[in-house]
Amino acid sequence: MTVQQSSNRKYHSILPIALASVLILGTTRLVFDNSKNSKDSIFQWQYWLQGSGLRRYIINASVNDDDNDDNSYEDIEDCNVFEGKWVWDNVSRPLYKEESCPFLVKQVTCQRNGRTDNMYQFWRWQPNECNLPRFNAAKLLRILRNKRLMYVGDSIQRGTFDSMVCMLQSVIPDGKKSLHKVPSKKVFYAEEYNATVEFYWAPFMVESNSDHSTNHSVIRRMVKLDRIADHSKNWEGVDFLVFESYVWWMYKPIINATNGDPNDMREYNVTTAYKMALQTWAKWLESSINSKTQKVFFMSLSPTHIRSSEWNPGSDGNCFNEQQPIHGPYRGTGTNLEIMKMVQETLQNLKVEVTYLNITQLSDYRKDAHTTIYTERKGKLLTKEQKADPKNFADCIHWCLPGVPDTWNEILYAHLLQEYYN
Ligand SMILES: *[C@@H]1O[C@H](CO)[C@@H](O)[C@H](O)[C@H]1NC(C)=O
Ligand SMILES: *[C@@H]1O[C@H](CO)[C@@H](O)[C@H](O)[C@H]1NC(C)=O
Ligand SMILES: *[C@@H]1O[C@H](CO)[C@@H](O)[C@H](O)[C@H]1NC(C)=O
Ligand SMILES: *[C@@H]1O[C@H](CO)[C@@H](O)[C@H](O)[C@H]1NC(C)=O
Ligand SMILES: *[C@@H]1O[C@H](CO)[C@@H](O)[C@H](O)[C@H]1NC(C)=O
Ligand SMILES: *[C@@H]1O[C@H](CO)[C@@H](O)[C@H](O)[C@H]1NC(C)=O
Ligand SMILES: *[C@@H]1O[C@H](CO)[C@@H](O)[C@H](O)[C@H]1NC(C)=O
Repeated sequence: MTVQQSSNRKYHSILPIALASVLILGTTRLVFDNSKNSKDSIFQWQYWLQGSGLRRYIINASVNDDDNDDNSYEDIEDCNVFEGKWVWDNVSRPLYKEESCPFLVKQVTCQRNGRTDNMYQFWRWQPNECNLPRFNAAKLLRILRNKRLMYVGDSIQRGTFDSMVCMLQSVIPDGKKSLHKVPSKKVFYAEEYNATVEFYWAPFMVESNSDHSTNHSVIRRMVKLDRIADHSKNWEGVDFLVFESYVWWMYKPIINATNGDPNDMREYNVTTAYKMALQTWAKWLESSINSKTQKVFFMSLSPTHIRSSEWNPGSDGNCFNEQQPIHGPYRGTGTNLEIMKMVQETLQNLKVEVTYLNITQLSDYRKDAHTTIYTERKGKLLTKEQKADPKNFADCIHWCLPGVPDTWNEILYAHLLQEYYN
């Protein structure tokens, strides 16, 4: 697992100009040679020495910004982007408008579904030690040229996929982009780039009786802890894979599962079962992933805000009507620390490199950003009566879009950028 380490570094001193320009010449050439797209070769690069190795810092591009590229960003390699704070930014946020993204599904269009406050759209995540690169859709599309990016997981992950589609689609002209559904998948395609962004439904990652892409609300959940092939055959060869799985495990502290004999269903402790599932997944990674050409990410658990007494002692509600993020230290019980620890330990011991996107804490501050009553249930928007009963009907698990998942994608973008220029 790759985890960004904290460091006190903010900016490195820059090498003496003469040495720096030699390095710039050398590396500009290198970048040019490796680049499929000559536009990318306009970067200036600066190098400096840090510790034992050569480190890179990318500064503003030179001229020729014909797609308004802002090519400056700080190398995030040594920065823990997951530690920071939410800052009010009604200038650069949101990254897209709900009404300008034709691909958004009803589940997440909170404004259209009647939410009247919209402050939740205007917060930007500011890491303590660095800045996230400004999201640039055209640049990401170039990174995704002839490639596939796939999100695997549950409906939270589907929201992250929807967010990414909205973040990308605005720069693609009509007729050159499409979204279609095939069983278990949603596929967004950017024709001019031959770039594919996909969502694959696998709420437990391993096989289960909840794998049907639409009809999965089975009452008796049953997970097949040692079986993954039905899913993983759809993941083979994908360039960028982003996995996520959490809420479906959390229904009860025990879960029915099989391991081996398909007729031998037993109740398992959820932590134990999830760990076994991750091991099955790890075996697939180890036998199938080519770390040279493929990159694997794992999204940490998305927290829930089901009990307002956790941030507002004495209250008896949930996330409904919350309009402000939590500022300051906070950790809700929607984050199961035992599961989180188990996942981190399991990922740490993998033979395949998996980048852990540790978005739990930053999302935990966002009690204001869930879909609450402005969403649908079983494919239908909440009725008037249901809306009048937020205590029973507010959804404090899923997130409005634009919203928090956009930040997760900005962080993913930062990593893809880092990878691309390495
Ligand atoms: C990069 O560009 C920004 C905005 O165009 C500017 O404010 C900043 O000073 C530039 N940084 C460098 C290192 O040239
Ligand atoms: C942005 O937020 C500031 C501070 O709350 C406010 O004064 C300003 O009117 C807002 N601007 C817009 C365009 O909403
Ligand atoms: C288009 O992208 C796919 C991967 O998504 C790749 O297999 C295929 O070769 C690409 N087509 C061309 C013409 O490059
Ligand atoms: C959904 O699946 C259940 C069994 O898993 C089945 O009984 C039911 O008919 C299915 N519903 C639809 C609409 O396909
Ligand atoms: C599940 O197993 C973990 C680790 O062995 C243990 O800490 C936890 O208490 C167990 N949970 C239940 C509900 O038995
Ligand atoms: C497991 O399945 C059995 C038989 O269907 C059921 O009685 C039991 O409640 C289930 N346990 C859980 C945790 O769902
Ligand atoms: C993820 O973030 C949490 C909270 O900020 C932290 O406690 C944990 O150590 C982090 N995990 C890793 C693997 O860095």
